[in-house]
Amino acid sequence: MTQRRGFLAALGSLPILGLDIGWAQAATSGTPPMMGMMNMGVAASVKLAAVDALAAGAALSDLVKLANTSSQPGLFRATLTAAPVNVPLLAGAPTQFWAYNGSLPGPLIEVMEGDTVEILFENRLPQATTVHWHGLPVPPDQDGNPHDAVAPGGKRLYRFSLPPGSAGTYWYHPHPHLTTPEQVYRGLAGAFVVRAKADPLQDIPERLLVISDLKLGQDGRIAPNDANDEMNGREGQFALVNAQRQPLLQFDRGGRERWRIWNASSARYLRLTLPGAALTLVGTDGGLLERPVAGLTEVLLAPAERAEVIVDASGNKGRGELVATPYNRGKMGMVPAEQALSLLSVDFGKVAGASLKPLPAMLRGIDDLGRPMSKKRVVFSENMSMTGGKHSMQFLVNGQSFDMKRIDLVSKINQVELWEIVNESDMDHPFHIHGTQFQVIEREVDGKVAPASYRAWHDTVNLKSGETVRLKMVQHFKGIRMFHCHILEHEGAGMMGQLQVV
Ligand code: C2O
Ligand code: CU
Ligand code: CU
Repeated sequence: MTQRRGFLAALGSLPILGLDIGWAQAATSGTPPMMGMMNMGVAASVKLAAVDALAAGAALSDLVKLANTSSQPGLFRATLTAAPVNVPLLAGAPTQFWAYNGSLPGPLIEVMEGDTVEILFENRLPQATTVHWHGLPVPPDQDGNPHDAVAPGGKRLYRFSLPPGSAGTYWYHPHPHLTTPEQVYRGLAGAFVVRAKADPLQDIPERLLVISDLKLGQDGRIAPNDANDEMNGREGQFALVNAQRQPLLQFDRGGRERWRIWNASSARYLRLTLPGAALTLVGTDGGLLERPVAGLTEVLLAPAERAEVIVDASGNKGRGELVATPYNRGKMGMVPAEQALSLLSVDFGKVAGASLKPLPAMLRGIDDLGRPMSKKRVVFSENMSMTGGKHSMQFLVNGQSFDMKRIDLVSKINQVELWEIVNESDMDHPFHIHGTQFQVIEREVDGKVAPASYRAWHDTVNLKSGETVRLKMVQHFKGIRMFHCHILEHEGAGMMGQLQVV
């Protein structure tokens, strides 16, 4: 199998960081009154590396592909190993990441609709872990639930088949109890693409862009979460594309490209703009839309969301930049104002004057899921609590913090349900549920209802403060499904529930 970087057999050399979900804010002058009641902070922030400590401008790397070792048609078989790996980033000490097969991001898994996937997973981390197949319709016992941890040194086989109609842009990442945030921010996440046998856009050259977050200490170590990260979700000083800082994409595959973009960061919202190019949305988490949505000036990806975008640069000769423009997600406490962040440089030089056929008007049919037979309600909220003389922030689902021994909701297999997700908290939270793709029906803010403007498959949907989203979904397997906020620190702090499908 291809490995960009060698393994480092340095198990156990890394101190395991205790995840402290408690939070307290330092009482600095200018602190808002409510925040001023807090005690001193829990985790001191480490000194971070300068933002130019990583070189920018190298040619964009393609993702490393996970090789299929099976010669049987319809079977994809491979081995995936999670282990520490040392990467020289700063002069002096190398940075220890945790990676799948030594690769950052994890190797791309690319299969066809209808394929059976067999992944032999080996855990060489100093912690228990699981592999969760985010967005894919896999049975609960193969989906890397926290209940099914693989111990350090352990192995397990994940096996599932991907049905026709499941072509789309997915990913995989760990989902162990409590340590998911840490394992992802140390580097464990990879892209998973399911291809259709007939794809109406197959003539358009494709790019895969996995955007991830890195918070790097001056000492070359991946910085632990501080109190602010625990509250607002972790955002490092770097947003990387295919693990590179601001790489250069040569737009030389024709006047337009199809970009699959993953927001694989812990908590960063990506409000993507690319001046100089026309953006057309053609796909979401679970594959193609019914019809292209043209004329976009930005695409917002909340943590865990994916998009397929046609980038048309046929009228452009110069340079462009893919920028994450400021997005206010209602962070709490003393946080600096949101800054624009350049993710990728684009050289349009070779596409001037290219003439392009129009995109197909229809990409595929997506049937309305139909009349819901029952209804569910999920409320996200925050609560300030006092434990041991220290204020801490709780992130709750239906008033409760996650309990692995508690089933929160029960659904019937193969039954269409209407889910109403309500955000009663002060910040944005992306709702995600395992095992299925849903259809967003409408959004409501201040009593004003706006129907979804196009039909699409999603497994993650963002909720602004005060917003209600109604969606329809069906679960096709019996067993336990997790649903949670995909700001990973919130999930880790308990903003997660369990659905039992019977
Ligand atoms: Cu991306 Cu519960 O996961
Ligand atoms: Cu998931
Ligand atoms: Cu959240």
